[in-house]
Amino acid sequence: MDKKSFATIRKFKTEDINKILEIEEQAFPKTAYSKQTFLNYGTSLPDTFIVMETGDDIVGYIIFDRGGHIHSTAVKRTYRMKGFGRILFMHAVKCVGEKLWLEVRSKNSGAIAFYKKLGMKITGKIPNYYGKDDALIMEISHKYYH
Ligand SMILES: CC(C)(COP(=O)(O)OP(=O)(O)OC[C@H]1O[C@@H](n2cnc3c(N)ncnc32)[C@H](O)[C@@H]1OP(=O)(O)O)[C@@H](O)C(=O)NCCC(=O)NCCS
Repeated sequence: MDKKSFATIRKFKTEDINKILEIEEQAFPKTAYSKQTFLNYGTSLPDTFIVMETGDDIVGYIIFDRGGHIHSTAVKRTYRMKGFGRILFMHAVKCVGEKLWLEVRSKNSGAIAFYKKLGMKITGKIPNYYGKDDALIMEISHKYYH
């Protein structure tokens, strides 16, 4: 059966931390957020630090705020290209009023392709935002889905 049928979305709990760190280190080997950064997000954005799980496995996460800024999202490698990233993103769309936006590393072509599939557009660039790498700003109006 499709793994998505078993997937549920819920708020981050402190006991998720090790599984989140494992996903993070796979997704961003050179720039992974630290344990403390995730724990701080659990405190500062308790309603919008969201994890997706199937059974006892965590599939991925998304962290955003009510202003529509997506701080981070990642899906565990073995679960990619199955629609989980889209489900997490659509959860953020439902929770946010005007627009969703984010910074993405200009060399992260996979993530840029993913966000374009979801309807996001590149609206700006911040040179050297990630050390030597530029950031692209991508955004989408809430109205796109309504
Ligand atoms: C980006 C990421 C979250 C996508 O998650 P995912 O669960 O694989 O994405 P989905 O399966 O929901 O894909 C949704 C659409 O985007 C497309 N897509 C996803 N990843 C893609 C990629 N690397 N290249 C091209 N298209 C991609 C899918 O084909 C799908 O299109 P479709 O609806 O036409 O079939 C995941 O690849 C990831 O965790 N990457 C590493 C972390 C990262 O770069 N995060 C973003 C930082 S800003």
